[in-house]
Amino acid sequence: MSTTDRELRVGMVGYAFMGAAHSQAWRTVNRVYDLPARARMALICGRDAAKVADAADRLGWEAYTTDWRELIARDDIDVVDVCTPGDSHAEIALAALAAGKHVLCEKPLANTVAEAREMAAAAATARAAGVRSMCGFNYRRVPAVTMMRQLVADGRLGVIRHVRATYLQDWIVDPQFPLVWRLQRDRAGSGALGDIGAHIIDLTQFVTGRRITGVSAVTETFVKERPLPAGSSGLAATVNGAGAADGHGAVDGHGPATGTVTVDDAAVFVARLDGGALATYEASRFATGRKNALRVEINGSLGTVVFDLERLNELEFYDATRPAAEQGFTRILVTEGEHPYMSAWWPPGHIIGYEHSFTHQMRDFIEAVATGADPAPSFADALQVQLVLDAVTRSADLGSSWTEVEPALATVAA
Ligand SMILES: NC(=O)c1ccc[n+]([C@@H]2O[C@H](COP(=O)([O-])OP(=O)(O)OC[C@H]3O[C@@H](n4cnc5c(N)ncnc54)[C@H](O)[C@@H]3O)[C@@H](O)[C@H]2O)c1
Repeated sequence: MSTTDRELRVGMVGYAFMGAAHSQAWRTVNRVYDLPARARMALICGRDAAKVADAADRLGWEAYTTDWRELIARDDIDVVDVCTPGDSHAEIALAALAAGKHVLCEKPLANTVAEAREMAAAAATARAAGVRSMCGFNYRRVPAVTMMRQLVADGRLGVIRHVRATYLQDWIVDPQFPLVWRLQRDRAGSGALGDIGAHIIDLTQFVTGRRITGVSAVTETFVKERPLPAGSSGLAATVNGAGAADGHGAVDGHGPATGTVTVDDAAVFVARLDGGALATYEASRFATGRKNALRVEINGSLGTVVFDLERLNELEFYDATRPAAEQGFTRILVTEGEHPYMSAWWPPGHIIGYEHSFTHQMRDFIEAVATGADPAPSFADALQVQLVLDAVTRSADLGSSWTEVEPALATVAA
């Protein structure tokens, strides 16, 4: 339990998938780590009064509101945690920063580069007044991933030659799966690319400390028309038939209403990193059998390191400096007290899971806010990811032509 009296009163917007993951982390973080401030789960926001009241009760929030503007206007909120789809990130985060609130915003930072630029600029201005902001690329905080970065930074891999990253899911393989918000460009910005591709872009840049400087990409939308979600009303012009909302429910079977999928189902690209490495990235929602398969392999002149999210507590390390007779991949169980984040958890060998990455994220965010340090990834770092997403989309639109990624003056360092 935290030994401090200092409170950070958190207001969180959105209460579904990420809302639940963040709530778990806010509930847990001060019970695991001794931090210079204590998170208080003060206020949760959603648009439906009955549902947000239920969420407040279930997830452990003191109070609820149905208007995020009210949440930001309140004097007794210090931190705004944005867990909504991408179409509202910019509006909420900009208003929160302008009101002097620290902001934690889910990834991808925004739906467009223009929005991300505005958010990064606002974050820089707010920083001068002591207001902190961070984007929620939680996979950085998996201990094995943080350790990967340390191995690279310590020179254990030598010069990085290759980065090989895949993030594969299969939840929309069925063409009858409905047109939820993640399949609409105006809601989500892009498809597999921004949703899961953004994670491996950030993760690999974080681990290598290198930026993607150019890409050549292909993207595809395999299923172009989908049924509207049940209980739909009032979706944008892409809908062919009745309106649709953002539910994740099954198709109700009433009428043939369908809508056009306006995002990529899969994105594949090659890239160059600023240290000279060649990289390949694959993000797909059509990898049948792959539920949430994130894998990264990095080959350097002195070794190789491999991370696989399905074996989250492990790292594979090949150390080419060892005597030839002893070389081979070593499986490191990343559960020792000296491993990143692990000293506060269980005895060695007692493994952790997906949700811990969010607890670690809140730990680092609270510590930065309370000590006046800059949390990472900053909005500038997240803008850099957005610039890569944009370059991938433009390259794919131009028949895979080589497309440079504009530098964003990001600080990739943690
Ligand atoms: N870090 C990760 O691993 C990870 C995983 C999944 C999603 N995400 C990101 O988190 C964000 C949310 O995704 P999700 O999976 O939680 O979506 P979701 O559909 O499960 O939840 C979205 C929530 O936002 C609420 N909402 C939408 N518009 C709102 C508004 N104007 N005001 C108040 N509430 C509003 C919805 O009611 C819902 O509670 C997205 O940016 C997504 O990319 C991150």
